[in-house]
Amino acid sequence: MKKHNKKKQKRVKEPLFNYISPNVYHTIIKGDSLSELSNFPNGKFDLIITSPPYNIGKVYETKTDIDKYLSTHESIIDELVRLLSNNGNLCWQVGNFVDKGEVFPLDIYYYWLFKSRGLRLRNRIVWHFGHGLHASKRFSGRYETILWFSKSDDYIFNLDNVRIKSKYPGKRHFKGPKKGMPSGNPLGKNPSDIWEIIERDWDSGLWDIPNVKSNHPEKTQHPCQFPIELVERCVLALTNENSWVLDPFAGVGSTVIASIKNGRNAIGIEKEESYCKLAKERIKAYNEGELKIRPINKPIHTPSVTDKVSQVPKEWLQHHK
Ligand SMILES: C[S@@+](CC[C@H](N)C(=O)[O-])C[C@H]1O[C@@H](n2cnc3c(N)ncnc32)[C@H](O)[C@@H]1O
Repeated sequence: MKKHNKKKQKRVKEPLFNYISPNVYHTIIKGDSLSELSNFPNGKFDLIITSPPYNIGKVYETKTDIDKYLSTHESIIDELVRLLSNNGNLCWQVGNFVDKGEVFPLDIYYYWLFKSRGLRLRNRIVWHFGHGLHASKRFSGRYETILWFSKSDDYIFNLDNVRIKSKYPGKRHFKGPKKGMPSGNPLGKNPSDIWEIIERDWDSGLWDIPNVKSNHPEKTQHPCQFPIELVERCVLALTNENSWVLDPFAGVGSTVIASIKNGRNAIGIEKEESYCKLAKERIKAYNEGELKIRPINKPIHTPSVTDKVSQVPKEWLQHHK
């Protein structure tokens, strides 16, 4: 008898969505990214934004050599490229992997994984923060990067949503047909690709977003969560209202919160039960107006010269003559 080679039918598991308004949906899925991603249709997401595990031995990861680490991400990246809409953008936030004192800048390795799959780099954003561990055998690390890729040349980019106050709005063209006319943009200037330390971040034209450490209002027990304002800037610039946003390594749900806060639908996938629980609690607190969020344009506090912390200790005065 002839055997029928029946193709196995793929089970499509629709996640259950919660909504904050009839048009804005969100969900946190507990599971492994690779298997969960296969449940979504091609081109669903206008923005994929994430910070993958860095392979530095955090509680949720097992440290391995760099080649093995990257190869485990290749199948996930194939899926992410499939899920990105034709006008879509992908933001991949990473720092360094360090092995026996040698530094491996992860964005350099990841760049080729995305480029070889046809994505086009639009910016390599340097996210600079003022605090962190002090190194003794190299300079202390004070930045991480976000690789922003688009899927095509026709990509969503709403610069006006994230313009910042110009430092010199009174500048005028001094020659040519526009001579005497204001030379800037009345809505403010382009915030640049360096989100850097400065006294007043949003207002001053450079973006300094403190990373989420113990004195940050958003701090949870997660060891390396996104500041919500960092994701908000990407969401506002790189999606439209009602777009779908995905974070395949969602942690405690910062991407989902930044998205629903701005009228975008969002899905977060996270393998650890405790982080999923925290993410859901934070989303609930946000919906009830109780989540502490660092406002997107809040100035960074810099102690004045008269503050005690700015004074040279009397024990060191001999070195400061
Ligand atoms: C760098 S953290 C991301 C933190 C997140 N940006 C936030 O704001 O909370 C990476 C997260 O990916 C999760 N993770 C690692 N491998 C995963 C996998 N295969 N599937 C789903 N989640 C994973 C880890 O548990 C961790 O919470």
